[in-house]
Amino acid sequence: MKKILIEGGARLFGEVHISGAKNSVLPLIAATLLTEGVSAIDESPWLSDVDCMCRVLNHLGAATHFERGTLSIDTTRIVGCEPPGELVRKMRASFLVMGPLLARTGRVCMSLPGGCAIGARPIDLHLKGFEAMGAKIDIGHGFIEAKAPRLFGSRIYLDFPSVGATENLMMAASLAEGHTVIENAALEPEIIDLSNLLSAMGAKIKGAGTNTIRIEGVSSLSPARHTVIPDRIEAGSFLVMAAATGGELIVNNVISEHLQPVTAKLQESGVFLEVGYDSIHILGNEELRPLDIKTLPYPGFPTDMQAQFMALLTVARGCSVVTETVFENRFMHAGELQKMNADIRIDGNTARINGVSHLQAATVAATDLRAGAAMVIAAQMARGTSVITEIQHIERGYENFCQKLEKIGTRIKVLDI
Ligand code: EPZ
Repeated sequence: MKKILIEGGARLFGEVHISGAKNSVLPLIAATLLTEGVSAIDESPWLSDVDCMCRVLNHLGAATHFERGTLSIDTTRIVGCEPPGELVRKMRASFLVMGPLLARTGRVCMSLPGGCAIGARPIDLHLKGFEAMGAKIDIGHGFIEAKAPRLFGSRIYLDFPSVGATENLMMAASLAEGHTVIENAALEPEIIDLSNLLSAMGAKIKGAGTNTIRIEGVSSLSPARHTVIPDRIEAGSFLVMAAATGGELIVNNVISEHLQPVTAKLQESGVFLEVGYDSIHILGNEELRPLDIKTLPYPGFPTDMQAQFMALLTVARGCSVVTETVFENRFMHAGELQKMNADIRIDGNTARINGVSHLQAATVAATDLRAGAAMVIAAQMARGTSVITEIQHIERGYENFCQKLEKIGTRIKVLDI
């Protein structure tokens, strides 16, 4: 089991290059199932989640090859419509193959994705949309089967602007017969990125990035080449590290507008930020002001940055309030931070953080991907050397993470025991 040791107290300094977005490349990979032939995704990160999604496609008959940041996917021969259960249960995002497979083969049978550490993660909105497009859905014994000889365009209202449901339904609607309208759609940048790939493949989509997406189904799509957008959450995580250690970083390869809620909150906390078009220069300082943060669907404050900010606010000068509205159980990192002397009180979906003078090194666990990043941030601030376990969670979403940390001055050691 791999662990990382971090000796706290180092001010981070230097430049970091942000990788392609995990939460974009995963739906992009799924979308290639909509067509036959070889598609390519440039500036793709190599992550355990990307490897997992490639293995799902390999199981279905697609060939995948990753070389120097380019992921090539040959979906000429799709021989199955039953994604492997152990991979679907391991990574929820593999459920994103349901829409493309249903549109391409007319039948999908797969394990229910199940919940994870941060919540039940239901799929009711995905299924409501597939049924509206004419699919027959059967659920039993932990499996779900969807059948639709042909999908038909439909008007679909999402009770919640679900990112995954918007993506799954966009992909299915691209090959449906007729016009589909997705209302109350998610607005995340990853939705626009997916829409751009689908359009390059020949799909007719309007309105991605707004809450109403209109799709005119076409009879077939062609392979395409696409460059994935940079990872706004990786970028935000490194910005918080600079703020937490009073360091100075230049974060390169970003789309600054995707980070507006994050940079706004950092400026509110008192750090200096110079926001360029594709890079951000940050100068941390000793006096961090407390913040009130409420997570919301984009363009609100991202839930995927909540844990990282909670770590930062443990040493702010005063009381901060963090409210999590997107997931029902996304405060598990609070318990780990308390092991490091943080003063946090949880009351339902609200956390009250009283700033303390310093954190104390401890052995803590990465309870999920973003909580893992929060543990790294806390360890960088703490007095002494911390041990972070369960780091497989971190490797899901941060490419070359330990190398990037070391390059900017984190005193880190990886133990593989
Ligand atoms: C995506 O998950 C991201 N994952 C998550 O990032 C991110 O936190 C989330 O969007 C919100 O921004 C990927 O893109 C691979 P949702 P997704 O459907 O699509 C409820 C990370 O750390 N809901 O927008 O699963 C759901 O329970 C990960 O990188 C339903 O009720 O998120 C949750 O409370 C974590 N019914 C809320 O909506 C449904 O059918 C948001 O879920 C679907 C969702």
